[in-house]
Amino acid sequence: MRIKIAPSLLSADFGRLEEEIKEVERGGADLLHWDVMDGHFVPNLTVGPSVIRCLRERTDLPFNVHLMIETPEKYLRRFVEAGGDIITVHVEACGNLRGTLSSLRRMGVKVGVALNPETPLGEVEGVMEELDLLLVMTVHPGFGSQRFLRSTLPKLRRAGRLVREKGLTLDLGVDGGISVETVPEVVRAGANLLVAGTAIYGERDRVLAIRRLREAARAGLSGTG
Ligand code: DX5
Ligand code: ZN
Repeated sequence: MRIKIAPSLLSADFGRLEEEIKEVERGGADLLHWDVMDGHFVPNLTVGPSVIRCLRERTDLPFNVHLMIETPEKYLRRFVEAGGDIITVHVEACGNLRGTLSSLRRMGVKVGVALNPETPLGEVEGVMEELDLLLVMTVHPGFGSQRFLRSTLPKLRRAGRLVREKGLTLDLGVDGGISVETVPEVVRAGANLLVAGTAIYGERDRVLAIRRLREAARAGLSGTG
């Protein structure tokens, strides 16, 4: 299983986003995770398409745009035009999930769906074949630096089993509280895409922080973590 590391810019210094991106690029990050919040779906506000567009030309890393917003279908095109490569919507925010996913496909981007901690896997089982990313939230979305919710592990394991049984090629992601302590368990459960904010941007040496997360994943998979 190929482990992918997706630094979450939520914990980066927004005053020097370009440098913050270059550092994780140097550290071998696989993609960049943008947390978009609207103050309604979650009680916090972050960036919109105009900021993402400004950084698009400054890096070759793919952009995963995590939309924590209500009525995401209204804004998809703007995030695609801003340079999103994988657009992730929350199943809880979609009135018509299948319709939203097909709109995204038609726009030529990869599609992801995120699940809040309390949302059962059953909500997305019917569309898993169509996804590029299933993002299991391991904290309640809205803020960085929260404690990993172990109560989400059974769902993650079930998702991992389904991915294996059905031979799906999607990335199974986890988002929230991901650190060298929690990585071994989530990769054993089947996660291969690790979104990490504090564990990377909370460290002075981001290159080393990424290396440590990869080592923790290796240890988890080899049974020594
Ligand atoms: C939370 C966001 C996360 C956040 C994770 O709502 O979706 O991407 O940045 O932060 P850490 O890794 O600090 O838990
Ligand atoms: Zn996120």
